[in-house]
Amino acid sequence: MIICHKKEDLRRAIDGLRRENQTLGFVPTMGALHDGHLSLIRKGLEENSRMVVSIFVNPTQFDNTIDLEKYPRSLEKDLELLQSLSKDIIVYAPVADDIYGNAVVSEHFDFSGLENQMEGRFRKGHFDGVGTVVKRLFEIVQPDIAYFGKKDFQQFRIIQELIKKHQIPVQVKGVEIFRDKDGLALSSRNERLSKAQREAAPFIYKTLKAARKRFGTESVNKITEWVEKQFAQHDLLTLEYFTIADEVSLKTVRRKTKTKSYRAFIAVFAGDIRLIDNIALN
Ligand code: PAJ
Repeated sequence: MIICHKKEDLRRAIDGLRRENQTLGFVPTMGALHDGHLSLIRKGLEENSRMVVSIFVNPTQFDNTIDLEKYPRSLEKDLELLQSLSKDIIVYAPVADDIYGNAVVSEHFDFSGLENQMEGRFRKGHFDGVGTVVKRLFEIVQPDIAYFGKKDFQQFRIIQELIKKHQIPVQVKGVEIFRDKDGLALSSRNERLSKAQREAAPFIYKTLKAARKRFGTESVNKITEWVEKQFAQHDLLTLEYFTIADEVSLKTVRRKTKTKSYRAFIAVFAGDIRLIDNIALN
């Protein structure tokens, strides 16, 4: 496995390995790798002859310094995991300088309104940070196909918008959400949950599934009120938002239309740990 800390080294490694008719796949991550990340990398390994995995905790996408400081970092363990998955992976684990030079700031993006919903509304500047780092990573890695998890569905839609608006020649693929046996969507932040919080957390997906069941017969307002009530009664989990939105525009739905696809999106706090999830409704 090749490990690069500088973009010049990464370019050299990729150029040295690129052959005619071979594709390069890419999975950007912030590390603390788990089976959710690995499911993206496995898919990439099946579909490409070479894979780049980046590991970089991107400071500009955090709106909260405590969240950034407490974000789990485990490079050694991550490298062992990747090594055991395949020798063909090229890891890019840069320091901030390599991506940002000496100005760790975001560019401002217009993602046609996608950035104003949900995560964008509750985490100011988050998607400017994500857009900035992913655009730079695409320029550095120049992959043929990049994989994003539907766990962060809004991020996946925003990256689709990024490549469209900036005409970046990358194919973006979405990968299904990887869950633990009890339904909790895997997340690097799950590591920080206490035993009691971890035991409570599957309630999030359980509620999403119940909302999906109600979606056939009940109004969006009624379902939203019901979900809010479930969390108001919960001791360990606090609801930040629950919304049913159009999968394409990500705008909250008032009235359902048969021809459109909808998803329910949720953000919940367990103490200071923020968890997100979503589910396709139709
Ligand atoms: P990170 O949270 O490390 O996630 C990296 C990729 O793994 C994202 O595409 C995310 O959606 C996917 N992922 C995480 N948990 C998953 C799960 N349980 N099932 C399926 N996919 C999952 O997302 C980021 O990093 C950053 O914003 C990044 C894109 C790297 C830019 O900094």
